[in-house]
Amino acid sequence: MTPIKYHWITLGPGAVSGLIASGLCDNGESVSVVPRHDRAETIEWQLVRAQEKNNYKASVTQLPIPKNSVFIVAVKAFDVISALQHITALEGFDKSMPIVLSHNGMVELPKALSQLNLHPLVTTHGAVKSTNGIICIEHRGNGRSWLEVRQEESEPWSTLQQAFPPLVLEQNISQRRWLKLIINCVINPLTAIYKCENGKLLEDKWQSQIISLVNEAVAVAETQNVILDANMCHREVLKVAKETALNSSSMLQDIKQQRRTEIDQLTGYLIKTGESAGIATPTHQQLLNEFQKRYA
Ligand SMILES: NC(=O)c1ccc[n+]([C@@H]2O[C@H](COP(=O)([O-])OP(=O)(O)OC[C@H]3O[C@@H](n4cnc5c(N)ncnc54)[C@H](OP(=O)(O)O)[C@@H]3O)[C@@H](O)[C@H]2O)c1
Repeated sequence: MTPIKYHWITLGPGAVSGLIASGLCDNGESVSVVPRHDRAETIEWQLVRAQEKNNYKASVTQLPIPKNSVFIVAVKAFDVISALQHITALEGFDKSMPIVLSHNGMVELPKALSQLNLHPLVTTHGAVKSTNGIICIEHRGNGRSWLEVRQEESEPWSTLQQAFPPLVLEQNISQRRWLKLIINCVINPLTAIYKCENGKLLEDKWQSQIISLVNEAVAVAETQNVILDANMCHREVLKVAKETALNSSSMLQDIKQQRRTEIDQLTGYLIKTGESAGIATPTHQQLLNEFQKRYA
């Protein structure tokens, strides 16, 4: 049987979606881009990896979109709803089309959007996008990724596994999403408030606050039927802080560059979900108050 040829449509491209799109282009896949504003016919970007620079070019998505389209939507959490609305409004869109959805934090989707063919993706790759004449995506840290798929599906995901390795397919990635949420809810606000690199959080003076943040978050996760071990989560926070010791967190970078942060979809989401379930999150609330006092 001839394998189905898919057409990959990516938004942006941003840092994460640009990494994925580059891998798809390298593998000879058909790729197009839905930019936010650009009216050009083609989009070019450069991928910088170690000392290597490679240039890529993809056409802007033509309408109506092909029937065999698969979407890559990797956007900031506060853009998720508008991004999904954007693609569902494209001529030719069909709600059975697979959408790979990658973002930090958690977003409550309106019913119509939650019924789309969504495949959450968690990634630990590190990439930064800059736009200085040309879009430049710098792949700063190799990581791995997990994609939520249904049991019976192997296509188009084997293609994505080749283009964006290593990619693990799992039927439920809720635990991974919550673990990532907890890690981000510790590292991002603390480093943004105290304007420090991630490695600073390894110091003893932070540990009792970090343990409280983790314990509260684990209790909230349990109300969502996600059972995580608090000691393991604390170890994971420290592991990420150690592995990225010299890095500025994405939230600190956003603050420094006066960009909107994902605090509402991280700490804000955790507090709100705790409130709805009757779980107190005073340490997160204190952190949010401090954050808002500085950056509101
Ligand atoms: N970068 C990383 O290393 C990394 C790692 C793990 C997780 N994450 C998470 O993954 C998510 C994406 O991060 P990122 O770093 O890839 O962000 P990014 O570089 O800002 O990329 C997002 C891209 O999507 C575009 N976009 C947003 N809404 C759109 C729309 N409606 N139509 C067309 N384009 C649209 C943005 O355009 P504009 O430029 O016009 O806004 C931007 O090009 C975030 O939640 C982030 O926290 C990132």
